[in-house]
Amino acid sequence: MADKFVLAYSGGLDTSVLIKYLQERCKAQVITVTVDVGQGDDLKAVGEKAKKLGVIKNVAIDAKEEFVKDYIFPAIKANALYEDKYPISTSLSRPLIAKKMVEVAEKEGANGLVHGCTGRGNDQVRFDITLASLAPGKQILAPVRDWGLTREEEIEYAKENNIPISEGAKKYSIDASLWGRAIECGLLEDANNEPPEDAYEWTASADKAPNTPEVITIGFEAGIPISLNGKVLKPLALIEEINKVAGKHGVGRIDHIEDRVVGLKSREVYECPAALVILDAHHDLEKMVMTRNQVLFKQQIDAQWVNLAYSGLWVDPLKDDLDAFINKSQENVTGEVKIKLFKGSMQIIGRNSPNSLYNKNLANYNIKTSFNQAYSKGFIELYGLQTVMYNNLKAAEKTAGKKPKAKKS
Ligand code: ARG
Repeated sequence: MADKFVLAYSGGLDTSVLIKYLQERCKAQVITVTVDVGQGDDLKAVGEKAKKLGVIKNVAIDAKEEFVKDYIFPAIKANALYEDKYPISTSLSRPLIAKKMVEVAEKEGANGLVHGCTGRGNDQVRFDITLASLAPGKQILAPVRDWGLTREEEIEYAKENNIPISEGAKKYSIDASLWGRAIECGLLEDANNEPPEDAYEWTASADKAPNTPEVITIGFEAGIPISLNGKVLKPLALIEEINKVAGKHGVGRIDHIEDRVVGLKSREVYECPAALVILDAHHDLEKMVMTRNQVLFKQQIDAQWVNLAYSGLWVDPLKDDLDAFINKSQENVTGEVKIKLFKGSMQIIGRNSPNSLYNKNLANYNIKTSFNQAYSKGFIELYGLQTVMYNNLKAAEKTAGKKPKAKKS
């Protein structure tokens, strides 16, 4: 019986070429799955393209709501910024796409799962591990990596087989989701080249951004953003709105050197307007409502969480354990944060919460409150006891060393 393969299909060069390769080389029947995670592609057109290339079925899945609730929201709660910069917009979408592939494969009785990742990136790690975890026993193929296909070969093959290639695809390699847009290849590969303006689509350049600042207010409930400027919005609409307004003010551009799972360093350029604004606001609010011990401990949990999510271990049980902790930690993270957007910069300018541990009277030097300053003196003495002792001892040794040695009598 012929193999039946489910291929994660974006409509781009790699995966379009793969449809033909799988049919010709493997004599397989191909079912394509295209998952909408907010990349902004015309799914209908992508499906048409797959059909023209001879797939037996194309399945288009709108997973935007699920992506926000089950992937983006946990990332917000975990303050997820990989290497302090990248909101893992691509990383988050991969386990969801893999999950959808497995669902389709099970429904259609397919025996193989195929993705178009190369052997250099992180996405292969995310797909391979998630697919193998969710679909034991099914074949997993990554032909671009496993057959060593080069981009030139693919372009050549596409031409021979009348597979259309978009102009944009030749210039940059783009990957987008609701949480951000990643731009790679071309001029960007020289880490010292400033990204050309045409690399960006979601964000205005600072000089073209409006000349007047705009203040937005994001409301959170139990760690999740729920409103914009006092208006409660559905999760998807909220993120789309914030992407628009922050992008308009040139906020969201990221250019950094990133450590990939496979050991390579890469220069990565992103635009993630909503992600950067929401993450910053959320983190700020946490610091208002959590105790110092909670804040400091959670930093370590968050660092672990983002590493797992970035590195393809979304389905690792440790991530579930961390999620349990993180979810509990969010119970009090309710309130509003005000952010000023202006010409490429964002600045938090205010916050309030019914659960605030900040008390302006306690911190004020001029008001008599229950905070007893007299206790501070004694507290500091005990708190710094060992530090002061150590330094005094060293000072005494130094003075003793300088003294002329006692004469022997
Ligand atoms: N380096 C980023 C990540 O691993 C983004 C990669 C995006 N590009 C791509 N073609 N998938 O999450």
